[in-house]
Amino acid sequence: MPTPVDIAPAHGKLGILLVGLGAVSTTTIAGVLAIRKGYAKPIGSLTQMGTVRLGKRTEGRSPKISDVVPLSDLDDLVFGGWDIFEDDCYAAARTAGVIEPSLLDRVRPELEKIRPWPAVFDQRYVKRLDGPNVKKGKNKRDLAEQVIADIRKFKTDHKLDRLVMVWCGSTEIFMTPTPAHATLDSFERALEENDLAIPSSMIYAYAAIREGIPYANAAPNLTADIPALVDLAARTGSPLAGKDLKTGQTLIKTIVAPGLKARLLGVDGWYSTNILGNRDGEVLDDPESFKTKEESKKSVLDYIFQPQLYPELYGNLCHVVRINYYPPRGDNKEGWDNIDLVGWLGYPMQLKINFLCRDSILAAPIVLDVALFLDLAKRAGMHGIQEWLSFYFKSPVHAPGLYPEHDLFIQLMKLKNTLRYLKGEELITHLGREYYD
Ligand SMILES: NC(=O)c1ccc[n+]([C@@H]2O[C@H](COP(=O)([O-])OP(=O)(O)OC[C@H]3O[C@@H](n4cnc5c(N)ncnc54)[C@H](O)[C@@H]3O)[C@@H](O)[C@H]2O)c1
Repeated sequence: MPTPVDIAPAHGKLGILLVGLGAVSTTTIAGVLAIRKGYAKPIGSLTQMGTVRLGKRTEGRSPKISDVVPLSDLDDLVFGGWDIFEDDCYAAARTAGVIEPSLLDRVRPELEKIRPWPAVFDQRYVKRLDGPNVKKGKNKRDLAEQVIADIRKFKTDHKLDRLVMVWCGSTEIFMTPTPAHATLDSFERALEENDLAIPSSMIYAYAAIREGIPYANAAPNLTADIPALVDLAARTGSPLAGKDLKTGQTLIKTIVAPGLKARLLGVDGWYSTNILGNRDGEVLDDPESFKTKEESKKSVLDYIFQPQLYPELYGNLCHVVRINYYPPRGDNKEGWDNIDLVGWLGYPMQLKINFLCRDSILAAPIVLDVALFLDLAKRAGMHGIQEWLSFYFKSPVHAPGLYPEHDLFIQLMKLKNTLRYLKGEELITHLGREYYD
């Protein structure tokens, strides 16, 4: 038997720091409060409902994940966060309009107590947004120190044992790494010099990682996925995860595409379009924020189909992704996919998918799982990029020189094998010859 990894117990309270108290964050917080009181079920959450098979199929051992690895209990979670709007979490959840008022009212007092701290915000990085609840500072370094002060105060005020941060803020404009992001020194100098290469999200990420706090990015923008912050994470022992939660259309894409590929059906074209009417949709209506999202959404098929290995099947794939801001639908997104398939002897076929989904309802269990698993990673001494959490993301962060794994089923196997590894259980290969010996 392999040796189990030493994991510190999940004693005491875990603070979950959410940057941006918008639709995703408020749906996560209100959801956890409602579930805690028994008003609803944590559907979609692996940490709350998932099981993991241990040992051989004949052993019949499939305990709940939460009984295998020590995870924080929902009763021990405390939420805090920042936003550019002053609305408390109840008012923000009402604005988001995801959870019905009758359920929100049942947890209203707890939600009203969560008031956002002033944000680090600069409209140059999110053009369609502006709000009053914003920090002022001498430079970006000073703003980072203010975020650290918020974090420390939150920890003391609520007697928290550990913390996790998840960026649930709006998608910032498309950026690529520059020399300012290359080393910790150049990054800290750029903070002092108010370098444009440092968007607001990186200031929060820096603050969290410097404090040794696990950090995840729920959005597609560049934040902790730069060498300077990966290096800082190694020094402070922060686990990192991201980026861009895999919900809605991309979730379905990474479920369907591996199936078509498994049967070696060719794909000539995949046209995806959406209508979305929430604030996220409004921000993504700006071409620079949309570009960040588009890059994230488009890469998945290339990696799943491997056109370099199967040029006849996927070499000429035309992949188009559109997001249309359409206010009447609010958070209830509607996505359409048209897939042009090719079968035996080159005969064409078509597959149409029409998904009427709820964006934040799909996102909230991911935020919860990622927060709990990152806290587990921290207690297990795992720092830096946590590739085993790729399962949750559209653009999984990965080591340089590796390609990201996008196939949802490979990602799930990787996640569960990591849990088995942590507990010193045999990894499952699905070879299964022993049953026939
Ligand atoms: N809902 C999903 O299914 C989903 C999936 C993948 C990614 N995402 C991403 O998650 C993020 C949140 O989505 P949402 O639907 O909650 O959007 P939202 O617009 O409802 O919420 C974002 C919140 O972040 C705040 N904000 C923006 N910049 C900030 C800053 N610098 N500091 C503090 N607060 C800031 C905004 O004021 C807003 O309240 C978006 O980037 C979105 O693209 C969402």
